[in-house]
Amino acid sequence: MTYVVTEACIKCKYTDCVEVCPVDCFYEGDNMLVIHPDECIDCGVCEPECPADAIKPDTEPGLEKWLEVNTEYAKVWPNITQKKEAPDDAKDFDGMEGKFEKFFSPAPGSGD
Ligand code: SF4
Ligand code: F3S
Repeated sequence: MTYVVTEACIKCKYTDCVEVCPVDCFYEGDNMLVIHPDECIDCGVCEPECPADAIKPDTEPGLEKWLEVNTEYAKVWPNITQKKEAPDDAKDFDGMEGKFEKFFSPAPGSGD
């Protein structure tokens, strides 16, 4: 298993999660992060740290799409290990549904 970052991260990107990961397995896209499934050791400490409740164990039902997104983009986005400022309008997107269809960007973030 692994933990995965889900839709709630899109355009919120609070990055509290990266500070606590013992194996630094978060990767940064333009408007969300993903977890590298082969690097995650399933410790679970990141899950309660996310203010947007975006991190879930992939054992929860219905997360197949997010496992695919995390697997695909962890290969190509840069590693991020330090917290950075969330977008100014992060709160406007917190809890919004349908963010993947509207806003997902395959573009890489800047990393650390
Ligand atoms: Fe990192 Fe643990 Fe979260 Fe996996 S579950 S991404 S190892 S903090
Ligand atoms: Fe995203 Fe939550 Fe981390 S919003 S960047 S998964 S703290």
